[in-house]
Amino acid sequence: MDFPSKHSATGTTIFTVMSALATEHNAINLSQGFPDFHIDEDLSQALGDAAKNGFNQYAPMAGLPVLRHEIAASFKKRYNVAIDADAEITITPGATYAIYTAFTAILSAGDEVIVLEPAYDSYIPNIEMNGAKVVPVALQAPAFEVDWSRVKEAMTPRTKAIIVNTPHNPTGAIWTKADWDELAAIVRGTDITILSDEVYEQLVFGDERHYSVLEHAELRECSFALYSFGKVYNNTGWKMGYCIAPPAYTQAFRRIHQFLAFTVNTPAQYALAHILAHGTAEPVHAVMQRKRDHFLNLIKDTPFTIHTPARGSYFQLASYERINDMPDMEFARWLTKEYGVATIPISSFYHDKKDDKLIRFCFAKKEETLDEAVNRLRKL
Ligand SMILES: Cc1ncc(COP(=O)(O)O)c(C=O)c1O
Repeated sequence: MDFPSKHSATGTTIFTVMSALATEHNAINLSQGFPDFHIDEDLSQALGDAAKNGFNQYAPMAGLPVLRHEIAASFKKRYNVAIDADAEITITPGATYAIYTAFTAILSAGDEVIVLEPAYDSYIPNIEMNGAKVVPVALQAPAFEVDWSRVKEAMTPRTKAIIVNTPHNPTGAIWTKADWDELAAIVRGTDITILSDEVYEQLVFGDERHYSVLEHAELRECSFALYSFGKVYNNTGWKMGYCIAPPAYTQAFRRIHQFLAFTVNTPAQYALAHILAHGTAEPVHAVMQRKRDHFLNLIKDTPFTIHTPARGSYFQLASYERINDMPDMEFARWLTKEYGVATIPISSFYHDKKDDKLIRFCFAKKEETLDEAVNRLRKL
């Protein structure tokens, strides 16, 4: 029986499709954004301890106070911003959930939301599930910068929200402080809400730094900032995240959250509070930078072209212009089947499947996984 769908996306998310294809062909999976290495030992120990010590019942709806206070302390230390742990932080089962909940808290039928593309694939279905309309604006290749005049042109009196993402999936681009100022200038005097997806905030390389919407006093007043522990501690399967927003926005968020998940895995909250307080054995960005550098070094020996090295995130874009001119979806399938390496075609991050002949590699993998993948790609 065919049920009517609340959104226009057809079929299954590309991440599921490519991971299944990787398994079917025994390929190395550099498609979906998840690490294949062990998490910090102290963190797994803390999870076991929490369960053993009896922290196994429902946590408060907004999240454990100890975790919310550790998050506030971490933002104070790293960004020098003051956040009210009780009124502004809500723990969620992952960032995808937090994005959906924030959209559901604010959107009504007929509202418009500006989405900068390529975009993480949950945004558009989430907007459409809420009866709102997606207004896509393309980022500018090859560096995938925002063309602010085009964002301004896309705004109408119905624009209810703009969703932004830095460090960016899939391109690895990051926003400068000037980008936030541009955004502030165009939303000034409107009642537009910003959703700022900052799940890769701690994965920024070299001398660069992440600028959070929370550092921008004016924008912070109208923003939901959304985070994932999975991307910081390489434990994506825990599906833990949080939302930081001004008190009124947080209240609206919690009105939805209390009837969606209500509360989030208690032992995991204790474990995350522990690791926030004590830190990991090695800084998380250093681990990921090593992997990015290793991958960039290896990929030089293949016919792929890297136009811009990733400045943040888990991901590196590559062009296959020197290999063939297949559509990117076909290329990614072919590469998986014939060469045993699974990637993600970038057209899947565009509403109209725009094809720039680019694929995305996830380098958040063990060095030996990257070595073996590139060994296979050298045969191209
Ligand atoms: C940009 C972006 N936002 C959100 C998420 C989802 O994070 P979580 O696993 O915490 O739901 C991802 C995961 O890949 C992502 O890349």
